Amino acid sequence: MKVIGINGYSARDPDKGITHNSGAALIEDGRIIAAIDEERLSRKKNDKTFPFMTVAALLEAAGTRPDLVALAHLSRHRFAGDMVRGYWKARRTAKNPFFKAYLNSRLSDFPLRTLGQILRPRTVPDAIGSLPKEETIHHLAHAATAYFCCPWPDEAVLTITLDAFGDGHCGSVWIGSNGKLEHRHWLDFLSSVGGLYTAFTTQLGFKPLQHEGKIVGLAAYGNPEPMMSRLREHISGRGSTMTFDSDLMFLALTGNRAGAGEIFNRLRRDLSREDVAAGLQTFSEAMVCDYVSEWVQRTGIRKLALAGGVFANVKLNQRVLELDEVDNIYIYPNMGDGGLAVGAALNTYAERNGGLTPALLESLYLGPDISSAEAARALDAAGVVYQRVSDMPQRAAELLAAGKVVARAAGKMEYGPRALGNRTVFASCSDPAINKWLNDRLQRTEFMPFAPIIMEKHAAEYFPRWKPEHITARFMTITYDASAVAKQNIPAAIHVDGTARPQVLREQDNPEVYAILEAYHAITGVPALINTSFNMHEEPIVCSAGDAVRAFQLGHLDALICADFLTVAS
Ligand SMILES: [Fe+2]
Repeated sequence: MKVIGINGYSARDPDKGITHNSGAALIEDGRIIAAIDEERLSRKKNDKTFPFMTVAALLEAAGTRPDLVALAHLSRHRFAGDMVRGYWKARRTAKNPFFKAYLNSRLSDFPLRTLGQILRPRTVPDAIGSLPKEETIHHLAHAATAYFCCPWPDEAVLTITLDAFGDGHCGSVWIGSNGKLEHRHWLDFLSSVGGLYTAFTTQLGFKPLQHEGKIVGLAAYGNPEPMMSRLREHISGRGSTMTFDSDLMFLALTGNRAGAGEIFNRLRRDLSREDVAAGLQTFSEAMVCDYVSEWVQRTGIRKLALAGGVFANVKLNQRVLELDEVDNIYIYPNMGDGGLAVGAALNTYAERNGGLTPALLESLYLGPDISSAEAARALDAAGVVYQRVSDMPQRAAELLAAGKVVARAAGKMEYGPRALGNRTVFASCSDPAINKWLNDRLQRTEFMPFAPIIMEKHAAEYFPRWKPEHITARFMTITYDASAVAKQNIPAAIHVDGTARPQVLREQDNPEVYAILEAYHAITGVPALINTSFNMHEEPIVCSAGDAVRAFQLGHLDALICADFLTVAS
């Protein structure tokens, strides 16, 4: 059975969805064949319009029509009662006039908006319009990605989702076992830690739902205590019963709406942005760890599958893994809403087939490939001098050892927010100054250093708490404390708090990139390189050979590997 999963509202109303990061995925017999986020093809960062281009690309690649269409997200009318009750609950305690006005407007327009959603049918492109369609609610789609792609097919798995908001909730708990997900808990959308993180991101002057990672990086420079204490004064309960007070609810729900800024400014008062970020980060870690601990204790299940945008927070993920009561965690690598297309497809397949045994999603190389012919055409069209190279790993390693910045666009594109070698910029991580000059060259502002890619056989030496069963570290979803050797040999990849976010690479996962690391290690004695995504300022990661060559021509890179060709800047 082939299922095409889609996250994005409607082909008739491509711009009207409330989603962000639309995309599509094709699964066959419960396993993912191909998956792409629309931004990579449309070249619009975090594109949220209906994923026409991705659907067309998947159908062309598949060669046959799928049997079913699985739609994620925007089933909010199913929870309309919960949401209306939530708004009324908030209205009873709201004193802030701006919050009252916001809630009044939500309560008055909510029924109409819900009716509109019910009456306005979800449509899909004509090519698949006649196929049966099924919807999966937002957090079940997140849960399905985490559980069905996790590495524990024979065990009960505590599956937890957390995000800012989705279909009336900001989190959920499920028990995955015997190929099925059993629901245990919903988290009320009024007390959303993810929503609060996004609101702070906005208030600190960054882009919501895009720059939260910058706040994680910034947090390491601040003192968490003052803001942590101030935030704690605005909550009651803990874990499943943790509740925001009216002010925090308003801030988390609306971000930068009129009146929310005053609440943020009162909270911030005299604090630097570093202290604000540090307090927010520590608060978020504590709230999430409370929730996780409670559910581990209630279920006795110590292996966790996690998804939802909150788990894009690599430092928070480290705290969860370090909990005494947790044995291991798996974070679905496309944890944000970009992953929902896969979740809808897997859940629909499981429901139609009496369940689906989890199977680790071994490879994220699920996007378009770059053929030699395509690369040659793109390079020729740009008038770039290039050569076919038979000893590419050696040539690349020599350039890197000489301090050059080498981009690689080869093989199938990664699915999800991280480049894992195939759409990557590599550089040496011996000189910390690279974080300043390479960010300047790539026109980026980051507060976390570049992440390292490291051969698995050296991972334990560089990150003592890493263990081979930490499969999640293959996908750059978690930080580790660095060893003294790591601080000595790869200082450019170590944050000010002594952590790094490695991609731990096995040879079988990407033999070509592993060979570059081996060759670089032979020259320098260092088994790791900087691995940062290959994109230009605020653009999506490159997808095609044409994208890669255009990025190379901007002049910020020293060399480009495009399929099996090498071009070196003169
Ligand atoms: Fe979500």
